[in-house]
Amino acid sequence: MKMLVISVFIVLQMSAQVVLSNDVFKGREVYVRDCVLCHGSSGEGRLPGLQSFNESQVLYRTDEALKKIVRDGKGVMPSFNGLLSDDDIRNVVTYLRTFL
Ligand code: HEC
Repeated sequence: MKMLVISVFIVLQMSAQVVLSNDVFKGREVYVRDCVLCHGSSGEGRLPGLQSFNESQVLYRTDEALKKIVRDGKGVMPSFNGLLSDDDIRNVVTYLRTFL
């Protein structure tokens, strides 16, 4: 019985880890809601002069650097600080990687 309780506990721990890891699907939801207007559904960039996520080296940055851009904004791009949770920002950066 004790073993069973311990193994259930371990399984629950493992599923909690899965929930806490980067979620590309949630990242997509954030992207579609908050980024697609300017960056386009395939990251092509809809504003004049905006670089495409898939053709330039925009994404050749660390996750930290990309998260900072989303948090602080850049040029015309608004800051999402306080609008998106840390999880949302982490997930949307994970989703950006799918454009490469
Ligand atoms: C109002 C339009 C707008 C929205 C909304 C927007 N962006 Fe941007 N984004 C821009 C512009 C314009 C730039 C280029 C800024 C510059 O280089 O001066 C940019 C730059 C970036 C860059 C860096 C690209 C580069 O050329 O260095 C990343 C990464 C990025 N945006 C991600 C996002 C994500 C993720 C979201 C959604 C959470 C988002 N953006 C929402 C307009 C927008």
